[in-house]
Amino acid sequence: APCAMEEEDVIRQELGSLHGIPLYKCFVEGWPQVEAFQARPDDLLVATYPKSGTTWLSEILDMIYQDGDVEKCQRDAIFNRVPFLEMKAPKIPSGVEQLEKTPSPRLVKTHLPVQLLPTSFWDKDCKVIYMARNPKDVIVSYYYFYQMAKMHPDPGTLAEFLETFMTGKVAYGSWYKHVQGWWEKKQEKQLLYLFYEDMKKDPRQEVQKILQFLGKELAEETVARILHHTSFQEMRKNPAANYETMPTALMDHSLSPFLRKGISGDWKNHFTVAQNERFNQHYQEHMAGSDLRFQMEV
Ligand code: A3P
Repeated sequence: APCAMEEEDVIRQELGSLHGIPLYKCFVEGWPQVEAFQARPDDLLVATYPKSGTTWLSEILDMIYQDGDVEKCQRDAIFNRVPFLEMKAPKIPSGVEQLEKTPSPRLVKTHLPVQLLPTSFWDKDCKVIYMARNPKDVIVSYYYFYQMAKMHPDPGTLAEFLETFMTGKVAYGSWYKHVQGWWEKKQEKQLLYLFYEDMKKDPRQEVQKILQFLGKELAEETVARILHHTSFQEMRKNPAANYETMPTALMDHSLSPFLRKGISGDWKNHFTVAQNERFNQHYQEHMAGSDLRFQMEV
């Protein structure tokens, strides 16, 4: 039982498997509690594939919930203000344990693919906001994250990681299935599907979409304060948002900061022409038959 032990025991471990999805062994071990999780009707679920803007969206939502009160949003680290549902690690409360102690209305973070979401969220008809990001930037961001966040296996070179990603052998599995699975859920559920690239281009418009989805109105100056506080520059220096308070054994920001670049199109600085062509081919094959579209830069 790796998560019953010390922090060191989760460092650079091979991934386990959760119903065929590659995942940290600790999370697999904690799965029975997650599967049995009791959602509340006023829970708001923040769902993403990793590295797609989860932290950004979470900070925006907490700011909305706190009516733009910056001090209240500094009450704790983002990973405690918006607990991570399926998280389990040595010596700290699991996501489920944290959530049980969180007063309503709760914000709940998950990276689970749609088919693995605990059914209670659907039974209670909870609102869901999903944020997706173009896969090329996800790959680059995930590659640096694998390096700095040591619960991941060694990613190898970018070329190697690209292969691992394309074959869906990274934590949380196939990006294609993840973004498409949640996209299809939009037909039948209260689900707002957002894109990182839209948020970069016009954050005010996206925040307005969120407010409308939540049935909430905020004064113009409150929205302006939210936009300022959740900008990349502000979040990067905010210890409550930038993950610096995580133990260095688990996340080493000297290897790569959690808030690394915060742009769209950084893949152009990393992919070779051949890698890009190969990826485009793979992308077309795997997105055929879906009306889901991504902007690879803004
Ligand atoms: P990069 O590695 O490309 O910089 P997640 O929170 O899902 O793990 O996603 C992390 C990615 O979102 C990182 O991407 C991070 O820099 C970016 N990010 C976090 N806050 C942001 C913000 N306020 N504006 C733009 N990008 C942000």
